[in-house]
Amino acid sequence: MKKKLTLNDILRMKSKEKIVVITAYDALFASLIEESADIILVGDSLNMSFAGEEDTLSATLNQMIYHTKAVCKGAPNSLIITDMPFGTYNNKDEALKNAVKVYQQTKAAAIKIEGGKERAHIIEHLTKNSIAVVGHIGLMPQFVRSEGGYKVRGKTQEDIEQLIADAIAIEKAGAFCIVIEGVVSDAAKAITEAVTIPTIGIGAGGETDGQVLVWSDMLGFFTAFVPKFVKQYMQGAGDVKTALAQFCTEVKSGKFPEEKHTY
Ligand code: KIV
Repeated sequence: MKKKLTLNDILRMKSKEKIVVITAYDALFASLIEESADIILVGDSLNMSFAGEEDTLSATLNQMIYHTKAVCKGAPNSLIITDMPFGTYNNKDEALKNAVKVYQQTKAAAIKIEGGKERAHIIEHLTKNSIAVVGHIGLMPQFVRSEGGYKVRGKTQEDIEQLIADAIAIEKAGAFCIVIEGVVSDAAKAITEAVTIPTIGIGAGGETDGQVLVWSDMLGFFTAFVPKFVKQYMQGAGDVKTALAQFCTEVKSGKFPEEKHTY
């Protein structure tokens, strides 16, 4: 049986062993992902993959709790992190109230919140109240409407310095890990070197302490567009369509069910 990693195990992996994070939204996929990932992230990206929405902003806390419960059931030996959805951590009291709800209703080990320096006081309030927190800086999907799109960060020295200051503030506030998304590789390297907690990259090059991908991207189920940072390890959508078409053909022709499928 797989050993469930603790937050301290993750902290110890920095600069020693790359940390593998994969998203999951349901029990079935979580049970498959559990075999390989160090951490499972119940990302609010589920609002796009699962709910078919254009962005993550309409995900709700109850939706995140529902999916986190399913993932925890499917992957009982995994360290599970849940995204706090947009609008649920605007101030420290709101953040604590909602994070406590996640802890009380699911078995998630930690929550993830987007934002830099300006949200460090919220992270500090959470960690001081026994909630384990993962930060998320760089391209932050919850800011897509206010920023007017998804923009790669770390292209100028000024921006790199801001990102480093964000990461340091998040570490000081007590987060045990930081996701760095959509950041130029050299900038992500500089951020990783500036903090003592592990960094997990997505679209941030190969110098972070770990990598995270969304399961439906990496398995080729999401094909509307393939971001530059995604590697497809299988052609999920194509294989599923082929299998479904074969089922239809066999039902229509009477080839399915065969004797062995019949009571
Ligand atoms: O929501 C999500 O899946 C995420 C990852 C992209 C890091 O936050």
